[in-house]
Amino acid sequence: MSGLEVTLGKLHLKNPIMPASGTFAEQMTNYIDVNQLGAIIPKSITKHRRTGNPTPRICETKAGGMINSIGIQSEGLTYFKEKTIPFYASFSTPFIPSVSADSIEEFTEVCEELGEMDEVDAIELNISCPNLKNNGVAFGMDPSVSYELVNRVRKVIKKPIIPKLSPNVTSIAEIARACEAAGADILTVSNTFIAMSIDVHTRKPKISNVMGGYSGPAILPLVVRLVYQVHQASSLPIIGCGGVMTGEDAVELMLAGASAVQIGTASFVDPEAMITIREEIEEYMKLHGIKDIQEIIGGVMVHKP
Ligand SMILES: Cc1cc2nc3c(=O)[nH]c(=O)nc-3n(C[C@H](O)[C@H](O)[C@H](O)COP(=O)(O)O)c2cc1C
Repeated sequence: MSGLEVTLGKLHLKNPIMPASGTFAEQMTNYIDVNQLGAIIPKSITKHRRTGNPTPRICETKAGGMINSIGIQSEGLTYFKEKTIPFYASFSTPFIPSVSADSIEEFTEVCEELGEMDEVDAIELNISCPNLKNNGVAFGMDPSVSYELVNRVRKVIKKPIIPKLSPNVTSIAEIARACEAAGADILTVSNTFIAMSIDVHTRKPKISNVMGGYSGPAILPLVVRLVYQVHQASSLPIIGCGGVMTGEDAVELMLAGASAVQIGTASFVDPEAMITIREEIEEYMKLHGIKDIQEIIGGVMVHKP
């Protein structure tokens, strides 16, 4: 397998495919060879143990995809350091924990501890989680809060930091620029779209938290647009995330400007999806005589009058 290597700042990946946080668990290693992935990103962790939201927490949507409101169920940092990190350390694939927190202080504390561990290659910041000190508005919905968060984390760790942007904003370009100015190394674009679904027979929302995050194939065109806008607004490498079900979907995100791609909902449909998608990218490259996948990053041809 050659020509699939990608470089995102200081991160070198053997291929651009990795799981989206929250859609990959240790049990998945029974189905796929983790060493064939570009990176491993487990579910977001928090400082303390959290049970998450009451059920039902997931529903399917007719247009394709799902709404979830798991509510960051987490075993907490101590368990993560003692059990999860040693488990993943046996693989040769770069390991990127995802961190969620209720405050900037907690983000900083958790990132500082993780940043000191050799097994950790970079940290993704789930800035889409609610900021309890700001009426529950997500950190990543406000450019100045995003700046402060990333800047504080930057001061305590040297490893690459990857804010995962929220799509639920008026201008994602503004948030991307704030994160870049604060010292982010890479950007993940993006998290889920806030959505709601109602059972018309019971008249109740389909998930207990009323609203949740929409993911799956229906959001791909929305994410292609976000990646394209962020690529134009910032010089940071981008990890595209949202709606990728096939190799061609992944290529679309890369043409829009992503250097790597995360796969989420597709793995629930087929646990081997990440491997299939990687193979489909290789087929696309063969078809178009592309020797180095990096050639296609940001390669969309937009002819403006
Ligand atoms: C069940 C579920 C749990 C998720 N948990 C997290 C999480 O803990 N942290 C996070 O940053 N994103 C989480 N996400 C969002 C995904 O990482 C990803 O951004 C989203 O699913 C869009 O990608 P997809 O369309 O390929 O699924 C979760 C998504 C799903 C479906």
